[in-house]
Amino acid sequence: LDNGLMRTPPMGWLAWERYRCDIDCDNDPKNCISEGLFRDMADRLAEDGWRELGYVYINIDDCWSSMQRDAQGRLQPDPHRFPGGIPKLARYLHDRGLKLGIYGDLGTHTCGGYPGTTLDKIQTDAQTFADWGIDMLKLDGCYSNATEQEQGYPLMSKALNATGRPIGYSCSWPAYQGGLPPRDKRRLTMAVNYTQLGEICNLWRNYGDIQDSWDSVLNIVDWFSTNQDILQPAAGPGRWNDPDMLVIGDFGLSLDQSRSQMALWAIMAAPLFMSNDLRTLNSEARTILQNKAAIAVSQDPMGVQGRRLLKEKFGIEVFWRPLSNSASALVFFSRRSDMPYRYTTSLGELNYTAGTYKVFDVFSEKLLSPLSDSTPFTVSINPSGVVMWHVSPITHLGQAPHARGGEY
Ligand code: DGJ
Repeated sequence: LDNGLMRTPPMGWLAWERYRCDIDCDNDPKNCISEGLFRDMADRLAEDGWRELGYVYINIDDCWSSMQRDAQGRLQPDPHRFPGGIPKLARYLHDRGLKLGIYGDLGTHTCGGYPGTTLDKIQTDAQTFADWGIDMLKLDGCYSNATEQEQGYPLMSKALNATGRPIGYSCSWPAYQGGLPPRDKRRLTMAVNYTQLGEICNLWRNYGDIQDSWDSVLNIVDWFSTNQDILQPAAGPGRWNDPDMLVIGDFGLSLDQSRSQMALWAIMAAPLFMSNDLRTLNSEARTILQNKAAIAVSQDPMGVQGRRLLKEKFGIEVFWRPLSNSASALVFFSRRSDMPYRYTTSLGELNYTAGTYKVFDVFSEKLLSPLSDSTPFTVSINPSGVVMWHVSPITHLGQAPHARGGEY
């Protein structure tokens, strides 16, 4: 969506995966969906170095609202859990250089059973969010049919634009329609259309919800890779595929698996919304999530989504993303479960042709010695882990980056 927002994939924190619909503030005051939780996370983003790295969104998900709209038909937050109201929370974030995202659902109810946004309520809700100082909206799709979605998602895009407030727009539409365009080209209405999504939404959920497990991460990576020919061209500045939240720092991923999620989400040009407890995050998870080189890959200004280049029979996969200034990122990913695998290849075998390259290892944070495209190299990849490289051509005086440097 060309609204000037999210020219690189948005980064921040989103409540859902970790906090779900925990509304029990009496017994679980620290973790229930309430203004305190969002203020706590905002404090962490602002004070623990996240904001400077680009993590600026704090996003509310389902179960924030009251069971009824107000007398004027507007959504209202649960008064016990958000006694200060949303505008005050938005101010709290804005004062700290952060942005506030909220959640709505195109349909009669949200997935959690709270009031939904039916077609007749779209304008009202867009205006309410703008009046409150909201910066991003995730519009879910429970309890609506394909016809309503086909009308509602574009209508909300128009309504948000009409408020005059810049509001990033995340659409769950394709996830409710199977995520893929129809094979039969004659059936074009009411089906997933990535050209249209790119025109009306800044990001969109294509696929099922992430869970706090390696299985879930793998399942998502497989779906996005299998369908990359359709998905990869759909992404670009202002319009992103969303494979869902980062679960790094929760309970389900090992250290290597956490690096893998970070690396693969950066390659996929995915939004980086953490869903974890920033108050108690361990230093290993923090180090991965705050890795500057991985973030630089994610936030590359060219905004081209990467792809899986190859899938070896023995469980090694190679991912690649082109970056600005002729640079690129490579991820060597092991799906094995035995021991670190020594994988031998060369840049030439991975389609590199510019001679000699500078290689920076993202997670060991070390610059390797210059590597020629014809020289075989070996990387040692841990089980369910990655080796991630940032690769850039070494340009010789007066030479174009793609010229061969052999004569020097
Ligand atoms: C389904 C969405 O895909 C999730 O991310 C989350 O927003 C839930 N609904 C909330 O009910």
